Amino acid sequence: MLARSIGARSIIEFGTSFGISTLHLAAALKDNGGGHLISTEFEPSKVVRARENIIKANLSDLVEIREGDALETLARDLPETIDLVLLDGAKALFPRVLSLLEAHLRAGALIIADNADWSPDYLAKVRSPTGGYFSVPFGSDVELSMKLSVSG
Ligand SMILES: C[S@@+](CC[C@H](N)C(=O)[O-])C[C@H]1O[C@@H](n2cnc3c(N)ncnc32)[C@H](O)[C@@H]1O
Repeated sequence: MLARSIGARSIIEFGTSFGISTLHLAAALKDNGGGHLISTEFEPSKVVRARENIIKANLSDLVEIREGDALETLARDLPETIDLVLLDGAKALFPRVLSLLEAHLRAGALIIADNADWSPDYLAKVRSPTGGYFSVPFGSDVELSMKLSVSG
């Protein structure tokens, strides 16, 4: 719903697992007219299953799964502009993963962080009045944040 409402065309996901959330995000891209989703996962068997699921759903033209540690896979070759991020991998890494993506987030980009209560450093970063985000708890243990400006 969030990806559809902002017309997202460029999405990053940290933590693919078997690709369930990836399928939802890719379906939203398709509904938005196309785009690119980069998702990353470090367990090879999960990457295999996720790729199978994405092929079955006929969404592989929209999805790139990068196998490996997000701190490496998301440290290179990012799209110029990112519209939406789903943080769902290791919670302790949320602040570092966000830092890797930050320069590419457009103003108004949304960041959804699952189980964000387990990452106090992340919450401190996105909730800081000077951090450049507007951020609210959302649902059960999810933090929804919006990038306020490109430089902020
Ligand atoms: C909660 S699951 C993701 C669920 C998925 N987003 C969904 O909703 O269908 C978290 C996944 O993140 C992966 N993960 C954790 N730390 C990672 C890292 N540093 N780099 C890449 N993947 C990581 C785990 O292997 C696990 O499969």
